[in-house]
Amino acid sequence: MAMSMFLNFMYPPPSSIFVTSMSIISFVVITNYGISELRGKHLNYSKFWNANNNSNNPTNSRNQIKLSGKVGMLLLYTPAFLAGAVSFWIFPNESFRSTILHGALTLHYFKRVFEALFIHKYSGPMVLDSAIPITLSYFMSTVTMIYAQHLTKDLQEPPINLLYPGIVLFLVGIIGNFYHHYLLSKLRVKGEKEYKIPKGGLFGIVICPHYLFEIIDFYGVFFISQTLYSLCFAIGTTFYLLGRSYATRNWYLSKFEDFPKNVKAVIPFVF
Ligand SMILES: NC(=O)c1ccc[n+]([C@@H]2O[C@H](COP(=O)([O-])OP(=O)(O)OC[C@H]3O[C@@H](n4cnc5c(N)ncnc54)[C@H](OP(=O)(O)O)[C@@H]3O)[C@@H](O)[C@H]2O)c1
Repeated sequence: MAMSMFLNFMYPPPSSIFVTSMSIISFVVITNYGISELRGKHLNYSKFWNANNNSNNPTNSRNQIKLSGKVGMLLLYTPAFLAGAVSFWIFPNESFRSTILHGALTLHYFKRVFEALFIHKYSGPMVLDSAIPITLSYFMSTVTMIYAQHLTKDLQEPPINLLYPGIVLFLVGIIGNFYHHYLLSKLRVKGEKEYKIPKGGLFGIVICPHYLFEIIDFYGVFFISQTLYSLCFAIGTTFYLLGRSYATRNWYLSKFEDFPKNVKAVIPFVF
């Protein structure tokens, strides 16, 4: 019953062991990172780059390999961007849906590379131990989404076509995400490293509107592709960003006495 409902808007689960395993692994691993954030164990970048270090054990911090914020972020995004770009060549003209998916993923990571180079003003380093799992997650998820789409090429389209609403959701997500990154970047002048309370856009109701739009972006990608893997990745991303935004809100509450308590973490008026 539930399965037949799912099959109205999704391609049947593929018989590929690789894609099935990746669906489970992506969902479990990314969700688990979100739960860790809720529990106060953070991935070490941005505000939390040094959060898990115990002041009783300073050698731990000294032994970690650190990358500059910009280099770390470029490491995270470039392999996934290249995977998206190369997909046009490896799986050319399979279907309109595939081409749109390849375009969406390439644009998503191109924008990240562009922002790392020209928009964001990072204040701190990124720890290599955190950069490696995130790089692998972005790269493997991009490769798996593209391959899962390739496996649908001889299948019938799902009865409910979500491609066009998906394109709209994706564009809303990517533009909203970019706009809030731009607002964050305007909080600092060149070379400044301080944190301030963000203002403008949706910052008055949630402290991580850029995460909210990232979530919308990835449901857009799921709607475009309508595969089980992209759904698992969108749900995993949602849980991770719920956890990270919850930790971020607590961070603001602890740093700024005048942080408005009515500002939620990521879902307006709810969470
Ligand atoms: N798909 C996923 O699972 C996933 C997960 C995480 C992130 N992302 C994507 O990556 C984007 C960036 O994520 P992030 O976690 O790095 O975001 P972030 O911590 O909010 O940082 C974004 C940029 O804004 C700066 N910034 C943040 N708060 C600031 C403040 N109060 N005052 C001044 N500058 C501030 C940061 O500087 P510092 O570097 O100095 O902190 C950084 O340059 C997200 O919006 C999302 O698109 C995706």
